[in-house]
Amino acid sequence: MSRILIIDDEDKYFELCQRFIAEHEFLPPVRNYREAASVLKAERGTIDLVLLDVHFDIPDEELLPSDKTDLLAGKDAKRAIERLRRAQGLHILDRLRRSDPDLPVIVMTARDDLPIEADSERLQAEDYTYLLDDEYLDARSLRLQIENILAQRAGPSGEEDEPFYWGETAKMQGLRRRLSILARGQLPIILLGATGTGKSLLAREFIHARSQREGPFVAVDLSTVPHDLMAAHLFGVVKGAYTGATTSREGVLEHAQGGTLFLDEIGNLSVDLQKSLLLVLQEGRYRPVGSVDERVADVKLVVATNENLVEMVREGKFREDLYMRLNPATAMRLPSLTERKDDFSVLLEVFVSRVSEEAYNADLLRQYAQQRGLAVPESDAVPVSVGRKVPTKADSRRIHFVFHPSSYKQLRDFSWPGNFRQFEMFLSNLITLSLVELVDQAEVVEPDNPADASRPDVIPILPRIVRELMRPMDISTSAPQDDGASVRVLDDGAHRLSVTLRDGESLNAVSCAVERQYLELLFEKYEGDLARMAGVLLSDPTAGRKVQLRMNQLGIKLRSLKQRRRAR
Ligand SMILES: Nc1ncnc2c1ncn2[C@@H]1O[C@H](COP(=O)(O)OP(=O)(O)OP(=O)(O)O)[C@@H](O)[C@H]1O
Ligand SMILES: [Mg+2]
Repeated sequence: MSRILIIDDEDKYFELCQRFIAEHEFLPPVRNYREAASVLKAERGTIDLVLLDVHFDIPDEELLPSDKTDLLAGKDAKRAIERLRRAQGLHILDRLRRSDPDLPVIVMTARDDLPIEADSERLQAEDYTYLLDDEYLDARSLRLQIENILAQRAGPSGEEDEPFYWGETAKMQGLRRRLSILARGQLPIILLGATGTGKSLLAREFIHARSQREGPFVAVDLSTVPHDLMAAHLFGVVKGAYTGATTSREGVLEHAQGGTLFLDEIGNLSVDLQKSLLLVLQEGRYRPVGSVDERVADVKLVVATNENLVEMVREGKFREDLYMRLNPATAMRLPSLTERKDDFSVLLEVFVSRVSEEAYNADLLRQYAQQRGLAVPESDAVPVSVGRKVPTKADSRRIHFVFHPSSYKQLRDFSWPGNFRQFEMFLSNLITLSLVELVDQAEVVEPDNPADASRPDVIPILPRIVRELMRPMDISTSAPQDDGASVRVLDDGAHRLSVTLRDGESLNAVSCAVERQYLELLFEKYEGDLARMAGVLLSDPTAGRKVQLRMNQLGIKLRSLKQRRRAR
């Protein structure tokens, strides 16, 4: 049984719910925001859901906003108050969102002349309903909505197969809830967050998957599309529009019809194209380059960036009207790995399990299990768990990785500039290296180490391997000025990289340091154009993503490089 609060100026729906939805407890209706706030405070945390009416026939002084001086000063004070009354529920919702951001709300209205979809969505109501004045039908649809919402909130269950790991903290569960509401709606979504925090993953696997849109998911990374091709790439181009446009081509907006268009690194959109995108959002129309005909755009837009859009608006680099249209009130910022320390032990476990299922690691795990006679399941992936201690009871059906407390601390406290992407790659390497050593040593299970021999279900992660793998990453983040490599500018303006030899420096550390300098130089030379860098480095201008990935891996902060360039 759940506890449901009704905010309504009448008893009608309270009575209906009591009669037809007897499985839940409905608190007596409260008539205005003040009463609602006081009940929510008194019942702290025990209310599971709110049903909120829209039209409130209540005395003027009970209406929100409490300060109506401006309204009453206007010419048409009476009409203004009437408007407040008609949309009072939305004002209440706005306040509830601030006081109780995680409380699910269903907005209900019996008037079909008052469209509430857009406002409910903007104010993040879980759901909204138009009541029909038919007791049976109304009760049925309300019950369905209530059950849906309560089931979704029943905790992280069903989340297991979600590729994005949310974790169990209230904050992350709140983000998940909010995003699943936004995913179902029509409005655009802004995803913010540093590199590797899962923006692209969420857009594809969560937002699009839940959007119930039948069309495809199309992603474009605007940081890898050359500026002069961007318009054609987005909107398409008709034959002969410019020299070189020898055939007509459709743009991504067309490809994403009926589906979701994900524009990654939206900060790279030129000011001209920002205007065109604004028209798409305002009017649902666009014009391919060189075309006189308009086309209809039916796409759900999701944009992402790790730049500060507000600052870009302030500096005149991003149009304010477009920014406002992108629905900034609901922008979601994904926390970095270091901000999720509360979750760290679970994150470690989740990611170790995940990398253990990668083909190569899965093979190694199976070989290991066979060599040591473990009774792991035949068909599925070998189950793994993670901890900082050897479990007292042996369990030959799974493998338990044990991190030394010092390694655990080292991983937890590291800055992880590439966030989850870097974390995942690191753990994948770590598991591979740890397993390779063991599988190779199968013949010589050290008899002088009985703990290992008697507990084949336990695999200790050696601090030595952790340190070796951490070292190149550490160099690139903590001591960038003295990482053993430096750049000299030669007379002809060319550059030479040089390396300082130091005792005990591993080859890997040195080569990472050189690679880092080299990439930073290229970034400078090609003015941050990753496509051109990819052209030079990999002979493939479409592989900007790979270059970016590698830079992330080396801990190069693209954002600060970009800022440095802009500052000049
Ligand atoms: N919360 C998460 N749960 C599980 N995996 C995650 C999570 N966040 C990131 N990842 C992993 O990190 C990888 C990188 O994530 P993603 O590409 O979505 O990052 P991003 O925020 O788009 O980064 P960028 O700004 O560099 O494009 C994903 O492919 C996934 O493997
Ligand atoms: Mg991305």
